[in-house]
Amino acid sequence: MLSSLALTALALLPAVQAAPSTSPRHAPLGKRCGTVSQYYNQQQSDWDKYNTGDWLNNWWNNNTDLVSGNSGGFAGAFGQWAMGNPDWTCRDDGSDSDCDLQLCDNRVLNDRGDDIRPAYYVLESTNRLHSYFSGIGESFTTTALGAALSKDSWATTFYTDKDDKSVTALKEVLTLVTTVVGIGAAFAGLGPAVAGALAGAGSALTSGSVTATANALSSHSDDTFQKSADLGGILGNIVVDSMKSFTTANNQLMSGQDYANVDIRTYIGGGAFLAFPGVDKNSVTDAMTNMLIGIAINQLYRQQKIFIMGGGACGDNQGIGSGPQESVVCRDGRAWYLYYWQENDVVSTTSHQWGWVATPPGLDSLGQNEYSGVSREDIINSSLDAWEVAGYNYDSDTAASRAEDAIGNAWASPGSKGASWEGIFTIPVCDVGSAVDADYQDKEYILQPYGHDARPVWCGPICEGDQDKTQSFIKAANMDGFQSPKHLCSSDPGY
Ligand SMILES: *[C@@H]1O[C@H](CO)[C@@H](O)[C@H](O)[C@H]1NC(C)=O
Ligand SMILES: *[C@@H]1O[C@H](CO)[C@@H](O)[C@H](O)[C@H]1NC(C)=O
Repeated sequence: MLSSLALTALALLPAVQAAPSTSPRHAPLGKRCGTVSQYYNQQQSDWDKYNTGDWLNNWWNNNTDLVSGNSGGFAGAFGQWAMGNPDWTCRDDGSDSDCDLQLCDNRVLNDRGDDIRPAYYVLESTNRLHSYFSGIGESFTTTALGAALSKDSWATTFYTDKDDKSVTALKEVLTLVTTVVGIGAAFAGLGPAVAGALAGAGSALTSGSVTATANALSSHSDDTFQKSADLGGILGNIVVDSMKSFTTANNQLMSGQDYANVDIRTYIGGGAFLAFPGVDKNSVTDAMTNMLIGIAINQLYRQQKIFIMGGGACGDNQGIGSGPQESVVCRDGRAWYLYYWQENDVVSTTSHQWGWVATPPGLDSLGQNEYSGVSREDIINSSLDAWEVAGYNYDSDTAASRAEDAIGNAWASPGSKGASWEGIFTIPVCDVGSAVDADYQDKEYILQPYGHDARPVWCGPICEGDQDKTQSFIKAANMDGFQSPKHLCSSDPGY
C-alpha cells in the first residue's frame, strides 16, 4: 500500500510542475484577494456539487448577444463578463497571456455575488482546458515520441520471412493511429482516473482528437510503405501533424463553436478540468510511444507465420506437448506461448524441410533500450483480450469503438495500459485446451518448445475443437496452404 502511494506521488510530480503558472493556487499565503479566494483549492467534484453545469447553461443562453458581439466569442465574452477583460480569448495564436487569470482583487468578479463561485469555476476550467491543449502539443512532438519510432531497422528487426511482399497500404495502420492519439489525448486530460462524472469529457477528448488526427491523416491515406522503410517514423510524423488540428480544436471550442459535435461545455463538464494539474507529459509520451511501437510491430508480425497457442494448464504435462517454458505467459491459470513458424531456408530432404518453431523475430529486443516499454506479456495480453472480444476480426474499427467505449463509459483507462491495451496487438490465438480430452493423432506434439528440431503436429480441429475456428486461425496466421503442421497426419485434418 505504502509503495503504491509513493508511486502515485512520484507520478504526479511532473504533472504538478506543468500546472498553469497563472493559477491562483500560487498566490502568496495569507494574502486576501476578495470573496473569490474563498473558493480557491477547488476539487473536481465541486463542479457538480455547486450545480455549475446548470449555471453555465443559463449563462450561455442569457448571453448570446455578448458572445456574438465579441471577436473572441465565448471566451472573450465570458472574460469580459467575469473579469472585465474582453481580450481573454484563450486562442492558440502565439500569445502567452491571452488566457491568464487575474482574479486577485478583481472588482468585476468580486462584485458578482452568488455568481462568483460558478464564474470562478468556469474561468479556471477554461484556463486549464487551454493548458491541456498546449500540453498535449508538447507531449506529441517528434523528439518526445522516442528513439524507437525513428529507428530505421524496423523491418530487419521484426521481419525475417523470406518472401518480402514489397509494399503495404498504410490505411489500416493509420486508422489505428487515430485511435492511439485519441487514447493519448484522453489520458492526457483525465490521467488513469476514469470516473463516471467525467464520461462526457472523456468521450469528447477521445472523439475530438480522433477527428483531429483523421484530418491530419487525409494527406497520408494513399501512402504505401516498404517494410524496410521507416514505419515508426511515418507513424510519428502523422501524430505530429495531427497537432495542427488540435490548435483548431482549441480555437473553435474557446470561441464557443462545436468541435466534433460538442461545445466547450462537454469538455469542462463534470469538473473534468476544474482542478486539472496539467498534462503529465512523460506518462502521455511513454504510453503513446509504446502503443505506436506495438502497432508497428503487430503490423509486421501479422504478415508472418506468428501466432499464440495455449490455453492448457500452466506447467503443461497434459498430454498435448509442452511449450517453451522459459517464455510462458501464465494468465488466470492457463499457459500461453508466442510462436513463429520459421520456414526452412535451404533445400533439404530431411524433416527440416518443414521448418521449425522459434521465437518471433525481434522479440529478444523487447523490454530493453528503445523497446523497453513493450514486452512479450504485453503482446500476449493485448492479443488475448482482442481475440476474446472479436475473434480473428478485431480490426481498426473495433479498436476505435472499444477505446471510445472504455473511456466514455469508464470501464478501463486504455492510456494507462500502454502496449498491453486490447487490440494494440492482434496476433491470432488458438486455444488448444480442449485437445487434452480429444483424440487427435500425435496430439502430444501440438505444443512444442522453440528449436531447430521442434515441429508441432496438428491433426485435428485443434483450436477449441472447432473446425471453422481452426480454419480461421490457420488463415489469420498466414498458414493457409502451408503443409508443415499436417505433414505427419494420416488423413487431411481439413484446414
Ligand atoms: C439567466 O437569466 C435568468 C432569467 O433572467 C436568471 O434568473 C439567471 O440568474 C441568469 N443566469 C445567469 C447565469 O446569467
Ligand atoms: C496480463 O494480464 C494479466 C491477467 O489479466 C495481468 O495480471 C497482468 O498484469 C498483465 N500483464 C501486463 C504486462 O499487462
